[in-house]
Amino acid sequence: MSLKVVVLCCLLATGFSDDEVNNKAFPGDFLFGTATASYQVEGAWNEDGKGENIWDHLTHTQPDLVDGKANGDIACDSYHKYKEDVALLKDLGANHYRFSLSWSRILPNGTPDKLNVAGVNYYKNLIQELKNNDIIPLVTIYHWDLPQVLQEQGGWTDDFIVEAFADYARVCFELFGDDVKYWLTFNEPKQTCLQGYGDGSMAPAIKESGVMDYKCTHNVIRSHAKAWHIYDQEFRSTQNGRISITIDTNWFEPDDDSAENEAAAETKRQFTFGWYANAIFNGDYPEVMRTRIANRSAAEGLSESRLPKFTDEELSYILGTHDYLGLNVYTSSIIKAIPEPEIGTPSYYSDIGVGEYVPDDWPGSASSWLKVTPWGMRKLLNWVKTTYNDPEIFITENGVSEDGSSLEDEIRINYYRDYLSNVRDAMDDGVKVIGYTAWSLMDNFEWMRGYTEKFGLYYVDFESQNRTRVPKSSVEFFKKVIATRCLVDTCEEA
Ligand code: NOJ
Repeated sequence: MSLKVVVLCCLLATGFSDDEVNNKAFPGDFLFGTATASYQVEGAWNEDGKGENIWDHLTHTQPDLVDGKANGDIACDSYHKYKEDVALLKDLGANHYRFSLSWSRILPNGTPDKLNVAGVNYYKNLIQELKNNDIIPLVTIYHWDLPQVLQEQGGWTDDFIVEAFADYARVCFELFGDDVKYWLTFNEPKQTCLQGYGDGSMAPAIKESGVMDYKCTHNVIRSHAKAWHIYDQEFRSTQNGRISITIDTNWFEPDDDSAENEAAAETKRQFTFGWYANAIFNGDYPEVMRTRIANRSAAEGLSESRLPKFTDEELSYILGTHDYLGLNVYTSSIIKAIPEPEIGTPSYYSDIGVGEYVPDDWPGSASSWLKVTPWGMRKLLNWVKTTYNDPEIFITENGVSEDGSSLEDEIRINYYRDYLSNVRDAMDDGVKVIGYTAWSLMDNFEWMRGYTEKFGLYYVDFESQNRTRVPKSSVEFFKKVIATRCLVDTCEEA
């Protein structure tokens, strides 16, 4: 048993953290870094030949959908300020930087018939600047900003997209692969599909829950597998990198330890994380999804399930398309069994058929969906280890929001410390966690919430033309964690 240290200061500072902080050092090769995504930080939305993407389109044509009618036209202006961003990362001592490539900045038509050299050079320069500063690039190929021209052909719900994504991924490997050793095909595909094509709360804001979200996912998984195979066959031997996908989930805690609530929580986990991970790690969609959706589809009078089926050939092509596992985690919720929802208009949530709630006394943040539940991190990591055959896990996002009213972001310091402590606990449990990525390097465009929810270690002054970056208190904290690999004053060696 390792000695644990109770950090009283945090109790006093926030009144909500009485967790014990793990006092073992993180291993020397553990990677600490921060993340951003192209549309959220780059700006320069129509500069130097970039094509329009679905977020440009949504924010310009339906501005009322976004808080404050905000958009990413300028955002943090990282397109022009990437050197400054890398200097911030250097100052933090970050081992890696996770950023994403904008498809329409590289291929303005969405297809390789036209390459935008200025856009390519932007990413080459950014990668070179990271290299010059010994910071490892962790590159996401797709973080939600589909070229609008491809959306107009049906986007992720049309089969053509699989070839289109594969072509785009190949271009990325060709252009940047000599200097990129960690790739991610997709960021949080559940948000792309469920929110983009299911409940309509993200671009392209289509509302066809229980149908189009499944179709989208089917194509995303096939696209992921194809990109992995392209990398494996055409690039791995010369570029020697690793490629996977980043999947997000809450930790779903059962309401109590009754068998029915345990089963409900597991159903929710399978419908959320398993929807994407199971075919890639274990083969096919989770059994509970296949059965429930088939049964409900039949009860609706449909001749086949709303959940598409992979062919046998596809199943074996998809299985094993991972070199590690990317995991985004922020929060938890409580799940309980409920009576079977009535048959009616199809919906992903009725297909799951469980109740979900968040207790009133869980500490909150500036985001309604994000409660501070560090204990969920350890439980989730252990569940992922057991369910997906003990993969190496790279935590590719974790973080908390505030409203930007103060640079003294105690909430973020406590959040990082307590979540990281649970990561370290999970490593003690035997979970193979290889890295941790704080979301986010700086405040940025938080999708439909515009600039109202701030996730940054650095504050960004969106009123100033210069988009001035200012460190919050959490910068000193995170810097010390990276330098010492330790969450308390003195650590036991790993
Ligand atoms: C996950 C997404 O990948 C990122 O784009 C978003 O800003 C954060 N979560 C916070 O909501």
